Order: sequence, then C-alpha cells, then structure tokens
Amino acid sequence: MAPSVSRVRDLLLLLHILSAMTWFGAGAWGLIAVRRVQRVQGTEEADILLQKMELVENRVFPPAAILVLLSGVGLVLNGSAGWGDMFVYLGMTGVIVSMALGGAVGGRLNRELADAREAGDTVKTAGLVNRWLNLGRIELLILLVIVALMVYKPL
Ligand code: HEM
Repeated sequence: MAPSVSRVRDLLLLLHILSAMTWFGAGAWGLIAVRRVQRVQGTEEADILLQKMELVENRVFPPAAILVLLSGVGLVLNGSAGWGDMFVYLGMTGVIVSMALGGAVGGRLNRELADAREAGDTVKTAGLVNRWLNLGRIELLILLVIVALMVYKPL
C-alpha cells in the first residue's frame, strides 16, 4: 500500500474506531442511566437523568453513527476491504438497522416519555423506561456483534 494511501487508511480507521467507541460508550452509559432512573423513579435525579439521556439520544448517537458509516465507506473505497466482504455488508446492515431503531423507536419513546413526565404519570413513565432499557440492550448487542465482525473479519 503506497505511504499516502496507508496514511489515509490509518486516519480513516482512527476516525472509524473513535466514532464506534463514542457510539458504544454512549450506549453503555445509557443503560447505566436507565437502571439508575428505575431506582430513583419520580425524583429530581430521575428527571435530570432522563433529560441527559434524551440529549445523548439526539446529539451523540446520530453523529457517531454517521461518522462510523462514512469512515467505514471511506475505508472500503480506500481499499481496506471490498463491498462483497461479509463484515462490510453486515456492518452496513447493522448501522442502518441500529439507526432506524434509534430514530423510529427511540424517537417515539422519547416523545411518549416527555409527555408522560409532563403529565406526572409515574406508572406510564416506569413502563416507558423499561422499554427504553430493552431498546438500549438490543442496540448495544448489535454494536457488540459488529465490532466482533470488524475485528475477526470472517470471509
Ligand atoms: C456500528 C458499526 C461499526 C463498528 C462498531 C465498526 C468498528 C470497527 C472496528 C473496531 C474496526 C477495527 C478492527 C481491527 O482493526 O481489528 C473496524 C474496521 C473496519 N471497518 Fe468497521 N465498524 C462499523 C461499521 C462499518 C461499516 C458500515 C463499514 C463499511 C461501510 C466498515 C468498514 C470497516 C473496514 C473496511 C475496516 C477494516 C479497516 C482496516 O483494517 O484497514 N465498518 N470497524
């Protein structure tokens, strides 16, 4: 690989891994925060945590996912892998499924949660927080599987 190509590859891979770490880290933080909310339901601390989770959901996940995707595409175009490589198309599928889940399901959950909190409906809030926990677990599992695919690169 020519020195310039490998420098570009290294830079893309650095960006790729840093954005993947951010996405995974934010997801892990989200699960810890949800568990804490379940323990301190109805308190000011729960309210503050739910606001922070909404912020992460809207401000951290989307740019991190887009950067992972763009840097991944850059790595393929730069010659680090082919579109036919299983880890690449499963990686693409994983990103798209995860973004769709986060956007459609996560977004709707966010809105319902904001309405339930505003109405002071603690029972509904507790139910929605449980669903958020399950969504977070699924998302993190998808990311974990993709990272394993990216490291082992099966076929
Ligand atoms: C959530 C999604 C993704 C995560 C968490 C992720 C994570 C990673 C990680 C950790 C590596 C480094 C593996 C290693 O060097 O051992 C890697 C490499 C790579 N990723 Fe991804 N990736 C994701 C999505 C994608 C997508 C969508 C593409 C393609 C469009 C892609 C293309 C690549 C390529 C080509 C490499 C190998 C780079 C090289 O060694 O030169 N990744 N990815």
